[in-house]
Amino acid sequence: METLFSGIQPSGIPTLGNYIGALKQFSEVQDDYNCFFCIVDQHAITVPQDRLKLRERTRQLAAIYLASGIDPEKSTLFIQSEVPAHVQAGWMLTTISSVGELERMTQFKDKSQKQTEGIPAGLLTYPPLMAADIVLYNTNIVPVGEDQKQHLELTRNLVDRFNSRYNDILIKPEVRMPKIGGRVMSLQDPTKKMSKSDDNAKNFISLLDNPNTAAKKIRSAVTDSDGIIKYDKDNKPGISNLLSIYSSLTDESIADLEVRYEGEGYGKFKGDLAEVVKQFLTDFQERYESYYHSEKLDDILDLGRDKAIKASARTLEKMERAMGLGRKRRK
Ligand code: AMP
Ligand code: TRP
Repeated sequence: METLFSGIQPSGIPTLGNYIGALKQFSEVQDDYNCFFCIVDQHAITVPQDRLKLRERTRQLAAIYLASGIDPEKSTLFIQSEVPAHVQAGWMLTTISSVGELERMTQFKDKSQKQTEGIPAGLLTYPPLMAADIVLYNTNIVPVGEDQKQHLELTRNLVDRFNSRYNDILIKPEVRMPKIGGRVMSLQDPTKKMSKSDDNAKNFISLLDNPNTAAKKIRSAVTDSDGIIKYDKDNKPGISNLLSIYSSLTDESIADLEVRYEGEGYGKFKGDLAEVVKQFLTDFQERYESYYHSEKLDDILDLGRDKAIKASARTLEKMERAMGLGRKRRK
């Protein structure tokens, strides 16, 4: 079975966009791949974080993964900082990265511009740590959004470099983009992506939003003035976005929805979708709460940590041996 690895930063609460574009799809591929889902807290600290909030977000994200259907019997769910091999391998890959290629990363350029107290060096060396996350598990598939494509390209370059310079030991991962409809757009400006860091809370639905508030956000989502419920991303981005959300949450195809709502007004359509979203969040949050407050969550994360330590040990050892770190093993 091929291996799939994905990481999400515990910074901010994931949105409905994260659920539709990532989390829901993760739960659907658990039988097809050997899956590792990592809460990348060491990536989160590349920009300043409040310590208590980071801890809370980490636990929240674990409960969100589980509420999304990640099954700890099938997949490995763990916290990056609890598996030391990540920074160990990350350091090795940092030493074969060049400052120039790291400075060319658009995320580095964006995030470093926003820093007021100097640019943390970790922001620059973040991509080799991400590459380490991936290669440690002999990952074949990495499902990421558009914004991570460049980091994946760098990972593939680092794998080639490591393999040609030392020994052919690292597996070169493939990017896999979410399926069509994987990109949920902002509710008030449907030409841009729904993002958890948006300044205007009306633009996104957080998975932990009050379900009534979320329903209200759907009812006041921006549409257009021609009154036809039809998928046309370029000319009708608002309605198309709502149709994608509807289809994804109910598994009813967009074509079927178009037929069902033919001749209906936007008010009726949005009202129905508002109910769908409200019910989805109510059920989701019930599952979420039961994990968040339970010791079972700690048991699952302990198990995940142990499985991840074991699974990454072999590659780490091979990398150290290839680079000549430590001593020769005794017979
Ligand atoms: P981020 O919130 O940028 O850390 O994204 C985590 C994952 O969620 C990414 O790999 C994306 O695949 C997915 N994602 C983020 N925002 C959206 C969105 N608006 N629509 C669909 N998927 C998204
Ligand atoms: N850099 C990714 C992001 O900001 C998170 C991430 C860290 C990741 N390590 C990863 C994603 C490994 C996929 C695979 O979204």
